[in-house]
Amino acid sequence: MAKFLVQNSGPLNGEVYISGSKNAVLPILAASILAEDGCVIDDVPALRDVQVMKGILNSLGAEIDDSREGMLEIRFPDILTNEADYELVGKMRASFLVMGPLLTKTGRAKVHIPGGCSIGARPIDLHLKGFKALGAKVIEKDSYVEAIAPAGGLKGAGIYLDFPSVGATENIMIAASMASGTTYIENAAEEPEIVDLANFLNKMGARIKGAGTDNIKIEGVRTMHPCEHCVIPDRIEAGTFMLAGAITRGELLIHNIVPDHIRPITAKLRECGVMVEMGDEGMYVIADRRPLTSTNIKTLPYPGFPTDIQSPFMAFLTTVKGSSSVIETVFENRFMHVAELNRMGANIRTEGNRALIPGDTDLEGAQVIATDLRAGAAMVLAGLVARGTTEISEIYHIERGYEKFVDKCKGIGATILRIDDQED
Ligand code: UD1
Repeated sequence: MAKFLVQNSGPLNGEVYISGSKNAVLPILAASILAEDGCVIDDVPALRDVQVMKGILNSLGAEIDDSREGMLEIRFPDILTNEADYELVGKMRASFLVMGPLLTKTGRAKVHIPGGCSIGARPIDLHLKGFKALGAKVIEKDSYVEAIAPAGGLKGAGIYLDFPSVGATENIMIAASMASGTTYIENAAEEPEIVDLANFLNKMGARIKGAGTDNIKIEGVRTMHPCEHCVIPDRIEAGTFMLAGAITRGELLIHNIVPDHIRPITAKLRECGVMVEMGDEGMYVIADRRPLTSTNIKTLPYPGFPTDIQSPFMAFLTTVKGSSSVIETVFENRFMHVAELNRMGANIRTEGNRALIPGDTDLEGAQVIATDLRAGAAMVLAGLVARGTTEISEIYHIERGYEKFVDKCKGIGATILRIDDQED
């Protein structure tokens, strides 16, 4: 299996460009199933997760032209099947997002149930609750879930989500966009990726209002037309590079960033003493020659502090003056990186969903594992300031979600090497 070798790199300085958002493009690709006569999607990051979604769309009958870098032209001359490929769905939880569009477009969908993952059980009950409310009959059998729309198609309804799940909001919003009548999603997720998906659907002719608030109104339409859409910048990649500047006490200019999307990350970095300023060209993150101090973090649904930045931020907190605490409220098991940081000498203690992080730690290079996508990024950040070399295995997690990660890190002065293995 391929590995990263990361060395203490001193302050990272320079400029980095943020790619299109992974979490925005995946639901948008799933929603492209609804496009009559195709759609064009721009700023698509070259990621493993995007490859998986393209594979699923291909298996459903899509013709995808990816000859221009960062752009996908997708057409569905015919939907060949409304069963999503078992192998591909098993590779990525977000594959379940094809359920809503398949169900609303063809009246039936059969998708493999995505398994749990290292960060928690991640059930799909809220997605299914939404489909049932829209009138679908839902059958959970073996490892599949099958949904069948009533004769005449899905019908708009009021749906209250017990938790503002990002995936459930997206799946229901897509399904409801071609249902008859009006749907209200209450306690909806408010993430920027939901807004981007709603903008994409609206460009195709959907009538969605309120995306970005906790109450989304969707008036169903009968047809969708072709459209072009450019994906929003990846706020989690942006946060990761902000932290790369902060942890190495460097000075970075980060391009293609939406300040509003990263407000909690900016606020917490400023609390620690990092200078974060938006300029004409992008976001400046300046952490050199500044005393940096501790802070406390609690992850929450947007606009709260993003759970996806929890582990990279924790790596940074090991290096500041004073102890910090981190409370994880979105996923029940998102502290896998703690054991890995502790291998590097971090001495973090956890009590339930709370972690206590002593500051001023001299991290030591070690052999560690990228236990999930963001935990992998945290290991790279820790490796950049640890003494000696940090060897990170299972980096396929990192490559699922960070485009050209090694090149971007090298471009700002990081010493990072990807060691290939014949098997990989
Ligand atoms: C999305 C993001 C992921 C991010 C997460 C939370 C994508 C592709 N992934 O994941 O990077 O970490 O949002 O910001 O966009 N839950 C239920 N029942 C459900 C659905 C979810 O109980 O039917 C629970 C989950 O177990 C979890 C919480 O809700 O504890 C949040 O999950 P959700 O918002 O659905 O995350 P994802 O859409 O899977």
